[in-house]
Amino acid sequence: MKIKMEISNLRQTSELASVFAKVIKPPMVILLNGDLGSGKTTFVKEVVKALGSQDLVTSPTFTLLNTYNANFPVYHFDMYRLSSAEDALNVGFEEYFDKKTLDGVCFVEWSENVEGLIHEVDYVIDITKKGDKLRTVVIKEGK
Ligand SMILES: Nc1ncnc2c1ncn2[C@@H]1O[C@H](COP(=O)(O)OP(=O)(O)OP(=O)(O)O)[C@@H](O)[C@H]1O
Ligand SMILES: [Mg+2]
Repeated sequence: MKIKMEISNLRQTSELASVFAKVIKPPMVILLNGDLGSGKTTFVKEVVKALGSQDLVTSPTFTLLNTYNANFPVYHFDMYRLSSAEDALNVGFEEYFDKKTLDGVCFVEWSENVEGLIHEVDYVIDITKKGDKLRTVVIKEGK
């Protein structure tokens, strides 16, 4: 599967997130790539909403990990403040990325900062901001 979509408002992000919410189920690992402010957290927020969760999605920049309750746990990581896989191991993150024991779905922002930590990836979502409002979102299977 590969989806490419041009998005110019939040409603379109929400529509794409609703479609994506239908394909995700545990155990899955999803990487979100894109510059600062490209809309990674916003995409997770819309997916969590589409999964029927009432939980508030906020940026895990300082907490590193937020967990939301849907029909399954949604683990939302932001590796922005980490600088190596070792940093992630030190805070005990490796257990989440073992598909044999993962009980939920992981969304990971800034995974490039922890190169080597995550071996099994189900989807990669690339968000590119073009100008003031326009965003290109590409969803690909695998790494
Ligand atoms: N589809 C969209 N339509 C309109 N505004 C959006 C959209 N996606 C994101 N934004 C806005 O862009 C800003 C940054 O979004 P967000 O926090 O989701 O980015 P991010 O990629 O997670 O950034 P960071 O790398 O800092 O974590 C927010 O103010 C958000 O409301
Ligand atoms: Mg973010």
